[in-house]
Amino acid sequence: MKKLVVLSGAGMSQESGLKTFRDMGGLWEQYDVTEVASPEAWSRNTELVLRFYNERRKHLWEAKPNSGHIGIAKLENDFDVSIITQNVDDLHEQAGSSKVLHLHGELRKVRSTIDPELIYTLDNWDLKIGDLCEKGSQLRPHIVWFGEAVPAIQQAIPIVQDAEILVVIGTSLAVYPAAELVNYVRKGIPIFVVDPSKPSLYSENVIFIQEKAGTGVQILKEELKKIN
Ligand code: APR
Repeated sequence: MKKLVVLSGAGMSQESGLKTFRDMGGLWEQYDVTEVASPEAWSRNTELVLRFYNERRKHLWEAKPNSGHIGIAKLENDFDVSIITQNVDDLHEQAGSSKVLHLHGELRKVRSTIDPELIYTLDNWDLKIGDLCEKGSQLRPHIVWFGEAVPAIQQAIPIVQDAEILVVIGTSLAVYPAAELVNYVRKGIPIFVVDPSKPSLYSENVIFIQEKAGTGVQILKEELKKIN
């Protein structure tokens, strides 16, 4: 089976009711990223940061995978699919995708502030001051904040280098190092882009499907039949 790699972003989950970041009405229109998604914000105003992620976790609690997530999961019948997502939701997993690498962390998970190896899955959507790890330190969202390293990128690069098909869905490619991944694909490999607006991606092998994920993934499946 051909190796098909999906690089997804917030647009993938938009039709599941989860906000994107840079669209009209996106999260970064409502919040100042430096106030809710950085280590400085965490030390300056822990309560606000916890509230920001509790609110997003609550929305995730009510969200379901959309037909885009489900269509991508079904591609596993015909391709060896690896998903590299910037999303912190687990909707790809809920839809049935089996190989999902989260570059920016996972909303349902929290971790110790003194030992980053201590990671826990929350069984509800609320993390509060005083919720401690087994070593007694405050738990924080298991999210990569602005200014923090993206350890998963080292795992992601060889996956993209190995790809025989790359699919980019629902990302503005505005944030590095995630956006850099598209440059690791081998020369001549087809790159499908599914997005209602054109992200900044310059390559001669781009097939642009100007649709939302729900519709775009169905068109993608038809296009993939022609090259599989
Ligand atoms: N289907 C497909 N694409 C969509 C849809 C949809 N229904 N709705 C919006 N989009 C597209 C937008 O056109 C845009 O290109 O999804 C993209 C969303 O871009 P961003 O909001 O910038 O989200 P993303 O690229 O995932 O942001 C990357 O930035 O703030 C950080 O950590 C955060 O992981 C995030 C990273």
